[in-house]
Amino acid sequence: MNKSCPQPIVILISGTGSNMQAIVQAAQREGWADRHGARVAAVISNRSDAAGLAWAQSQDIETSVIDHRTFADRAAFDTALMAAIDLYAADGVQPLVVLAGFMRILTADFVRHYEGRLVNIHPSLLPAFPGLHTHQRAIDMGCRFAGATVHRVTEALDHGEILAQAVVPVLPDDTPDTLAARVLTQEHLIYPRAIAAWLQQQAAGR
Ligand code: GRF
Repeated sequence: MNKSCPQPIVILISGTGSNMQAIVQAAQREGWADRHGARVAAVISNRSDAAGLAWAQSQDIETSVIDHRTFADRAAFDTALMAAIDLYAADGVQPLVVLAGFMRILTADFVRHYEGRLVNIHPSLLPAFPGLHTHQRAIDMGCRFAGATVHRVTEALDHGEILAQAVVPVLPDDTPDTLAARVLTQEHLIYPRAIAAWLQQQAAGR
């Protein structure tokens, strides 16, 4: 427990935010505030219609929208996003930034700014199938197994040290949707677990 040095968590979403919900619920259920001195301080979306925003508000979590379409370029958007995230630093502790279905490619400057405290979940067994349409590609390749990966974010898309993985079978009659649903149930388990492990390591190092 480390209440004198709270660890803020800022979650970035673009849509449903079911991974964000799983993380918030794990934080509540497992008492991350007492156990790790951590709290989900904010949920930020690049889309105002992201369904996850309303859910976060219902949990009394601060939300904000930084609409990428209102910026001249990627760098300007990322600068505004960094400013919005960094508001949540607390007592000199910078936020852990959790990408949860955040559908924007981030600049090298952004990634460097959050080095060591920026994580993502990707719906494939990385390093297989980085990028989009992972489930279709796994089915097309005849994969017998698929899954999800929690990883540190580096400048290369969907690369970076693997923090957790879960494996599911690919069934003969799977469609991208049925496979995605099976993978998603595992995402909801491994993402909170990987973040809790990160928090524990962080607290041990303080
Ligand atoms: C998840 O499959 C995640 O791995 C991918 O986008 C999906 C987001 O789902 N990057 P949700 O918004 O967390 O429900």
